[in-house]
Amino acid sequence: MTTRAIGLVVLLVLMARPGHAQGADTAAKAGAAPDPAVLTPALIDQGRKIFHGPGNCSACHGDKLEGGPVAPSLRGPTWRHIDGSYDAIIHRVDEGMPGTAMVAHPGGISETQVLMAATYIYAVSHGLAKP
Ligand code: HEC
Repeated sequence: MTTRAIGLVVLLVLMARPGHAQGADTAAKAGAAPDPAVLTPALIDQGRKIFHGPGNCSACHGDKLEGGPVAPSLRGPTWRHIDGSYDAIIHRVDEGMPGTAMVAHPGGISETQVLMAATYIYAVSHGLAKP
């Protein structure tokens, strides 16, 4: 996927987030799911690379999202503090969880990379992709 195509997809993600203006909690309660157009193998694959690379997510959440001594599993269907919706996942990676090791933008990843990592987690936890 070219950089321009990824930019378009990210734009799509942002537009597909109905509760964004009112805050992610509203959208999470509405059970917001990603636009199907966003769940492309290419985007999920980018997210997988970020999860195991620059985002360093796997160091705490495990190579297969199974969790570890430091951090909870991200495989669903049960979650520690979020409801597992696409918006809630994005929100947590974007804002972090104050007072825990979960910081905003782990590894200093960009907004685009946050969306990609969240797409990967959503896909795996909903049985749409392998970890
Ligand atoms: C230094 C360890 C660490 C790293 C690195 C880390 N996390 Fe976390 N993460 C945590 C901890 C601890 C929690 C649980 C916070 C809480 O108590 O709600 C968490 C929670 C989460 C949750 C919410 C889980 C739930 O059930 O409430 C998501 C989603 C998440 N992390 C995604 C990511 C992603 C994506 C990355 C990489 C970009 C990442 N994390 C990197 C430690 C980490």
